Amino acid sequence: MECTTLFFLCSCSFSFLIISSARDTLTADQIISDGETIVSARGEFEMGFFSPGGRPQNRYFGIWYKKISKGTVIWLANRETPVANGSGIVRVNSRGIMVGTNESNSVIWSSDYSRSVKNPVAQLLDNGNLVFRDGNDEQSFVWQSFDHIVDTLLPGMKFGYDLVSGIDRYFVPWKSEDDPAPGDYIHRMDRNGYPQLITRKDSVVRFRTGPWVGSQFSGIPRFDQNRIYRPSFVISKTEVYYIFDLVNVSDSAVTRLRLTPGGEWFRLVWNREKQEWTRVLTLQVTDCDSYGLCGTYGVCNVNKTPRCECMKGFDPENPDDWAAADWSNGCLRNVQLECGNGDGFLKYSGVKLPDTRWSWYNMSMSLSECRTKCLKDCNCTAYSNTDVRNGGSGCLLWFGGLHDIRGYSEDGQDLYVRMAASELEDSKDSKRKKTVWFLLLLLVPAVILGLYLLYKFRKRRLHGEEIPQSNLTSEATNRNERQDLDLPLLDFLQIANATGNFSSKLGKGGFGTVYKGILEGGQEVAVKRLSKDSRQGVDEFMNEVSCIAKLQHRNLVRLLGCCIEKDERMLIYEYMPNKCLDSIIFDTEKCTSVDWQTRYNIINGTARGLLYLHRDSRLRIIHRDLKASNILLDHEMNPKISDFGLARICGGSETQASTTRIVGTYGYMPPEYAIDGLFSTKSDVYSFGVLLLEIISGNKIRGFRHPDHNLNLIGHAWKSYNEDKLSEATDKLILNSSNEDEVFRVIKIGLLCVQEYPEDRPNMSSVVLMLSSKIALSTPKKPGFYSERREAHETNSSSLNNTDSSPMNTYTFSLFEPR
Ligand SMILES: *[C@@H]1O[C@H](CO)[C@@H](O)[C@H](O)[C@H]1NC(C)=O
Ligand SMILES: *[C@@H]1O[C@H](CO)[C@@H](O)[C@H](O)[C@H]1NC(C)=O
Ligand SMILES: *[C@@H]1O[C@H](CO)[C@@H](O)[C@H](O)[C@H]1NC(C)=O
Ligand SMILES: *[C@@H]1O[C@H](CO)[C@@H](O)[C@H](O)[C@H]1NC(C)=O
Ligand SMILES: *[C@@H]1O[C@H](CO)[C@@H](O)[C@H](O)[C@H]1NC(C)=O
Repeated sequence: MECTTLFFLCSCSFSFLIISSARDTLTADQIISDGETIVSARGEFEMGFFSPGGRPQNRYFGIWYKKISKGTVIWLANRETPVANGSGIVRVNSRGIMVGTNESNSVIWSSDYSRSVKNPVAQLLDNGNLVFRDGNDEQSFVWQSFDHIVDTLLPGMKFGYDLVSGIDRYFVPWKSEDDPAPGDYIHRMDRNGYPQLITRKDSVVRFRTGPWVGSQFSGIPRFDQNRIYRPSFVISKTEVYYIFDLVNVSDSAVTRLRLTPGGEWFRLVWNREKQEWTRVLTLQVTDCDSYGLCGTYGVCNVNKTPRCECMKGFDPENPDDWAAADWSNGCLRNVQLECGNGDGFLKYSGVKLPDTRWSWYNMSMSLSECRTKCLKDCNCTAYSNTDVRNGGSGCLLWFGGLHDIRGYSEDGQDLYVRMAASELEDSKDSKRKKTVWFLLLLLVPAVILGLYLLYKFRKRRLHGEEIPQSNLTSEATNRNERQDLDLPLLDFLQIANATGNFSSKLGKGGFGTVYKGILEGGQEVAVKRLSKDSRQGVDEFMNEVSCIAKLQHRNLVRLLGCCIEKDERMLIYEYMPNKCLDSIIFDTEKCTSVDWQTRYNIINGTARGLLYLHRDSRLRIIHRDLKASNILLDHEMNPKISDFGLARICGGSETQASTTRIVGTYGYMPPEYAIDGLFSTKSDVYSFGVLLLEIISGNKIRGFRHPDHNLNLIGHAWKSYNEDKLSEATDKLILNSSNEDEVFRVIKIGLLCVQEYPEDRPNMSSVVLMLSSKIALSTPKKPGFYSERREAHETNSSSLNNTDSSPMNTYTFSLFEPR
């Protein structure tokens, strides 16, 4: 029944494909070679091979304007590896768009894809976007060039990040005007504090746009009343981006933002009469635009000589340097803040707001609420509105020193800077001072009496009663709020209610027990209650948790919140209805529904999640317990790695490359880790290789038995490889639904990952590349742990790993200490 439907769908889409293969698309049976181009439907853009000026022998595959400004390239693919004149070709297959040369099977660039499709089509749209999609699904793009900015932002392109898909779109301009390789500059949406755009050269901050304040960036001349384009800035829980649209689409006005190889920012508009690009906005105009010229608490002013002066109530930290026009050390307060001792705020108007990397924000608070919040926190040094429109709204707080402030008159914002009481009084006249003194004289006796009473009261409380639990929570909440993410802190009662008083157990392991819960809003969650022996102090725990909460990738399970109360430590995760890979792949009934394409997507997604942990997240996390039961599947069977970072929390401060406490699961551990306790990202690569062999063979690493020999699963794959009988290491079920060569290639990648010596194993970025392209694979060497089956170990570890037998075992851990 199901098969017939599938067949019907296939034949339908096939005929559709033939009809739709117009000249703006490229399908699997077509090739673009050097000299041929594809043009978007209305002829706005064209793509093909080109040579940048001055380097005619180097050919790149890219997209350029066709109707206007012919030759202005807006995007390109193989920017680091040009091909020789005449040899380049472009084609699509089920995995994406490939750029290669006319030699068979050469791929020098391929689109970054996350799933493969049945009827692959690449299409160049009239907005300049090159998309890769399924032939009969015009709306959902598997990949699009708009997600990979080079140096040009076109109308409708998002510049920023998406926490759900893990996509971060940022500028990496050309090295020079005739070399499109990635240059030294990067312009990116910064994720710390209130979002702002930061340009770095060789990772040093060079320029900052200032935060978005409603209709413009703070510190950038206003250009929002123009009749050409409409900029906007979106901040939501999952996405932060800048985008602009054309005001009148039918007018076909052309505008773009460009970052030059020298790191300069231009807004360009096409002038039809003169047939040239006009610069309507230049972001870096004066020396005040170079980041932090005047140091901390210094204000840069283009209309003044010298450029820098200290804020009111501050003096240069190093007067000699300051006089010699080296302002980088900045300024210091004349009078230190005495928190809560009558300090207040001094208003500055018309400034570019300071660097917001050390800030906190709430878009719905009012200015007076904002002031109150800042006063309550002794580390808060300034505040302002987040949106200056309609009289102002929202709250932005700064902590610590204020950096990169510019003073300028028009279009600047108001900034309120915290000052000690005495610094504020300066401005008041002496008559008022006298009144204050008189009142003080009256008040002093009353205050002394009040303090005495308060002292007696507190003494009684501290001695007689325990500090109520709610104090602990609110203290932790404050602490959490200061982090730049808002990870909800739930209290113990809430979680007890959600989990029916910890009644619905999902699994249990060395680190704690996992329960299913339903929050008040109806959201299903998995609650991990850490066991007593893995508990740390509140601060340490919060630090770790906030780090983990920042790890967001579509192939990692999301952390939704946490709970700390007395000695309880709990983590709240999203709930995964499809359970873990373990319960599907090794189940003789369910596994029949997992065809090759699905398994391939699971392998690939897992590799990407792991690559993110190793390389792309700021923490460089080694998972240390990657295994089938730690891979959860969402409703579309996308894999999500769980328990990442947990080894960090629970193992305490094990930051060195060796440990006496082995966290991991027998079978997935490489020799150097199991025997010597040495771990590195290559240990995870080994575990990944084991997982890959399991997924393809449908066999568990533990308990694998073969009638003909005594090898374990790895040994079996190695033997099959050497005897050129890889089909024996493959689940019979998938051989029907797949291309044999493709499956065997993936097994080879698995064998490369489980090689005995860590230095021989590829790193995860090579693994991802090998999986996604056809680059040649090296020959695997002997794997680790393949010949012995170690009966003793096995019985030993099964008693320690007490989770594998439970069918409900969605979330598991295993942990053992070597004896
Ligand atoms: C590239 O090849 C084409 C045709 O083979 C030729 O006409 C053209 O001059 C070549 N360009 C360069 C820069 O060698
Ligand atoms: C590839 O293209 C180059 C340049 O046109 C040509 O010299 C070469 O013979 C071609 N190779 C093959 C295998 O077609
Ligand atoms: C949009 O542009 C078209 C073509 O220039 C023009 O006819 C039309 O009046 C414009 N619409 C608006 C709302 O300005
Ligand atoms: C922001 O402020 C509003 C109003 O004070 C409050 O209701 C809301 O909970 C705050 N949001 C966050 C994330 O703190
Ligand atoms: C305030 O900042 C200092 C130094 O940055 C830090 O040590 C301290 O913990 C902070 N205090 C609070 C209450 O966050």
